[in-house]
Amino acid sequence: MAEKTSDLATFFKKKGFLYPSSDIYGGLAGFYDYGHLGTMLKRNFENVWRKFFVESQDNYYEIETANIMHENVFKASGHLENFIDPIVKCSKCGFFERADHLVEKTTKIRAEGLSSEELTREIEKHHLKCPKCSSSFEKVSVMNMMFPVNIGVGNQHKAYLRPETAQSPYVNFKLQYELQRKKLPLGLAIVGRAYRNEISPRHVTLRMREFTQAELQIFVNPDLMNEHPEFDSLQDYELRTMLVEDRPQKMIVERTAAELVERGLPKYYVYHLIKIQQFYVDELRVPKHKFRLYELNEKEKAFYNKYHFDIEMELSEHGFTEIGGLHYRTDHDLKGHQEVSTQSMEIVDEETGKKFIPHVLEVSFGVDRNVYALLDLHYNDDQERGNIVLSLPAKITPFFCAVFPLVKNKPELAAKARGIYQELRKDWRFFYDEVASIGRRYARADEIGIRYGITVDFESLDDNAVTIRDRDTTKQQRVPVSELKQKLQELSHE
Ligand code: GAP
Repeated sequence: MAEKTSDLATFFKKKGFLYPSSDIYGGLAGFYDYGHLGTMLKRNFENVWRKFFVESQDNYYEIETANIMHENVFKASGHLENFIDPIVKCSKCGFFERADHLVEKTTKIRAEGLSSEELTREIEKHHLKCPKCSSSFEKVSVMNMMFPVNIGVGNQHKAYLRPETAQSPYVNFKLQYELQRKKLPLGLAIVGRAYRNEISPRHVTLRMREFTQAELQIFVNPDLMNEHPEFDSLQDYELRTMLVEDRPQKMIVERTAAELVERGLPKYYVYHLIKIQQFYVDELRVPKHKFRLYELNEKEKAFYNKYHFDIEMELSEHGFTEIGGLHYRTDHDLKGHQEVSTQSMEIVDEETGKKFIPHVLEVSFGVDRNVYALLDLHYNDDQERGNIVLSLPAKITPFFCAVFPLVKNKPELAAKARGIYQELRKDWRFFYDEVASIGRRYARADEIGIRYGITVDFESLDDNAVTIRDRDTTKQQRVPVSELKQKLQELSHE
């Protein structure tokens, strides 16, 4: 684990994972670029996400949609009115800060969801002053976080960069429903950009102004929210929850799925809490104790949600941090779009003839926050080895394997190593390195998370076998080249 965000930020840049955007001009707060390794890691995460949440389900599809959307979309969704953050301004130097963050940071109370008046009272009560010039703050006000854009010659049309990918599936719903043979549940997923004019972007990619979301909108019949065909077989599954009632004891409580349903959550919702925990614990191998499902209270819930749990991972410096959420948005969005567009969002249940507007369960992930969290979790400054080891799981790490000739200046070794590399890179993400001593190359591979190193040595020329080095244990095993593909196949499923 990294000690500080700045250690990680330095490491990310040094290795080519990610770094401030427009860096040669001093950067732009809240915007980041991904280098070659970061891009590969991000894509791998997105692909694992796609496979797990979208491609494994009947009637779930991915769509790609415009990032700039009509002003009325956000009138209908409520974002124009409600997508606001509290801000506080210094009365003297004009410094701005997000008011709830200021209160949280200085008083350690949870301030998310407090009204402007409540935040003003907290600031006055605790005599909070401007960190830049020590003057007092003005009263807390609010700022809409969307980026407006003017389109066309003379800026005739006002539009917005979408603050969440979610609105696109809602405005696409009726068409997609017709195209997909009018079946529910219908899942529409987007992996794409979202934009928010954050007041204080910070902590590298944890709070950005342009970021990637992977969001799945599941359109369901609200009468069926209390059932799921797989629920019964999973009712004893234990979920790591922190409900509102657990907060005073600061306790994460393992509760069975059945227990959460007894407490009033719909089975369909709890089933998806299970899927999410399985995604982290089984697919991404996140240790259970670093994961929790955090229930939000009435004040904290997003304005569109009836039920809202944050998905959280424990980070080295920031503690448990939100990386996603499970949102039961009811018919809030479709109803809004029906009103503003005057196009009906109602559908007819073909069995019962009942007309209704579908409800939406949203499974929402911030890709950048997940990538940050996984890097943070797997960053180990290994004192014994004297280098950093990035222990990312095989399926998401940028390179699965590297091939090394033991020494560089032996053309027969390099030729054999290159041949193996060329063959295996057809199936896996492979890296070739012949520069510097073998020890140095192992260290470099550890630092960028290469799961296995394949070394071609002098013996390889005689026995046609190579050595596979395990990044995490440093143990080595000898494998005939003829069995290498099969061996890697096994290892890639770990
Ligand atoms: N569609 C629902 C939605 O957008 P959200 O909780 O506002 O819900 C979903 O955002 C996820 O997007 C968050 O859990 C987080 O991972 C990510 N996210 C939100 N704001 C972000 C920001 N400023 N920078 C990076 N990621 C962000």
